[in-house]
Amino acid sequence: MAAAADDCWGNPSSVHGPGRAARAHLESARRGVAEAIGAAPADLVLTSGGTEACNLGVLGLARASQGGQVITTAIEHPAVAESVARLETEGHPVLRLPVEAGVPPDPRALAHMLSSNTALVAIQQVNHETGVILPVAEYARVCALAAVPIFVDATQSLGKLPIDVTDLGASALALASHKVGGPAGAGALWVDRRWSLSPQLLGGAQERGRRGGTPAVLSAVGFAAACGELDLRLADQPRLAKLREQLESAMLDQGGVVNGDRGPRTATVTNVSFRGRRGPALVAALDLEGVATSTGAACSSGLNEPSPVLLALHPDESWRAGAALRMSFGPETSESNIEFVIHALTSVLSRPAS
Ligand SMILES: Cc1ncc(COP(=O)(O)O)c(C=O)c1O
Repeated sequence: MAAAADDCWGNPSSVHGPGRAARAHLESARRGVAEAIGAAPADLVLTSGGTEACNLGVLGLARASQGGQVITTAIEHPAVAESVARLETEGHPVLRLPVEAGVPPDPRALAHMLSSNTALVAIQQVNHETGVILPVAEYARVCALAAVPIFVDATQSLGKLPIDVTDLGASALALASHKVGGPAGAGALWVDRRWSLSPQLLGGAQERGRRGGTPAVLSAVGFAAACGELDLRLADQPRLAKLREQLESAMLDQGGVVNGDRGPRTATVTNVSFRGRRGPALVAALDLEGVATSTGAACSSGLNEPSPVLLALHPDESWRAGAALRMSFGPETSESNIEFVIHALTSVLSRPAS
């Protein structure tokens, strides 16, 4: 980004020299991000992050359809859940696939739910609070048979699972740069050109008429640079899985229960509930010990509401939702970090619950 900064002050839509220089950086960044998911660069809409990509994917595909129902799950990130809720107020009936006892929805349940009146299926690939992996390629196969578009929120899967849009079979896929070490405030929506997309940011004809507004060239450059290192992230997953196991086994010894552990999970997150404890109190106490954790999605932090994801995943044990601690780790996380966290947590849990 620093190397490109001097070249990127022009408006990439302008025809003058500085504009063309910025355009060259923008298109090179688009190619870099597209390559990471096996996509054609022209099918990528660069956005201001995962939230905008999810909004554009869900609202853009549904609003371009002839109305009809939207199928989703109860464990989506607010960027998708709120978009679906907006569609509901616009008259789209919404159906939610059941997520029982920590297990992602069965593709057969989706096949049963699809009808000639389905406008869109909107589902995440990896859950943001627990790391639970959903079988989106199977959902996509079911949707293809019914000729229904499927939007996939891949914000949490990029860099954790290999993604190839052709293999996946999705109709649209949302990505966020800061989940893979790029700058926050950059993202992308890939859209299969066979589906129409109604733009949601209205203005100029940028991004082939799919997103109005002057693109953030430097952010896109940073996103593409981060995408260039995805292989390193993917190769690091087994190491992180071991660190997570070490941390989880210490937390289980302290009376914790792991949330969403009944199926495959990505290695970079753990979500554990401690009965009798309040998640926000644990987060605050750990922060004082120098450990940065959360109770759920960062965008819900400060609301202090029990996690809707955990309520949906463990409906018979609703206590888990208010007592959860979510920790995530990445390439910088070392074994000594994990030892430090275990030590801090042991100290925090030895104190009376507040
Ligand atoms: C699954 C999922 N979708 C969407 C988003 C929103 O992405 P952004 O923070 O880039 O707006 C996030 C961010 O945490 C996420 O985890």
